[in-house]
Amino acid sequence: MRRFWQTNYFFACLVVYKLWYNKNEKIVKFLKKGENMTNLHEIYKCTVCGNIVEVVHASAGELVCCGKPMHKMVAGETDGAAEKHVPVLEKMEGGYRVKVGSVPHPATEEHHIEWIEIICNTCNQVQRAYIKPGEPAQAEFKTCSDDVTAREYCNLHGLWQSKK
Ligand SMILES: [Fe+2]
Repeated sequence: MRRFWQTNYFFACLVVYKLWYNKNEKIVKFLKKGENMTNLHEIYKCTVCGNIVEVVHASAGELVCCGKPMHKMVAGETDGAAEKHVPVLEKMEGGYRVKVGSVPHPATEEHHIEWIEIICNTCNQVQRAYIKPGEPAQAEFKTCSDDVTAREYCNLHGLWQSKK
């Protein structure tokens, strides 16, 4: 009687594992078939050209730019100083004022906050304010809920977020 590791099934498993280990695109797609490849509000960046997109409808496709899968940005994934990047939410009448960092962030052409966003976790509404170099990194938003997430994007240190 043949042992498991002497069967063709074992060798087939080995091949699939090796392809999976090497992140073979076709195998990964096949194994993830039916799963969403994206989720609502995720942010993706092209590592080649710098395009940034936000998911407004989640589906099974893989986001590709310049011929490569886009990088899913994760809040706080860089070595930027948290105190200069984590958004601070201040309650105001009918909404929130969002300031970037408990310590002011640089606002130069080379290093600045590009945008600030607030997401209402109740109704999924997204509001975004674009910030130019030289402008203070803060914005005011009207919202229908106290359950919100604030996010900001620094051109050098990427995505950061905080929740209320
Ligand atoms: Fe920064």
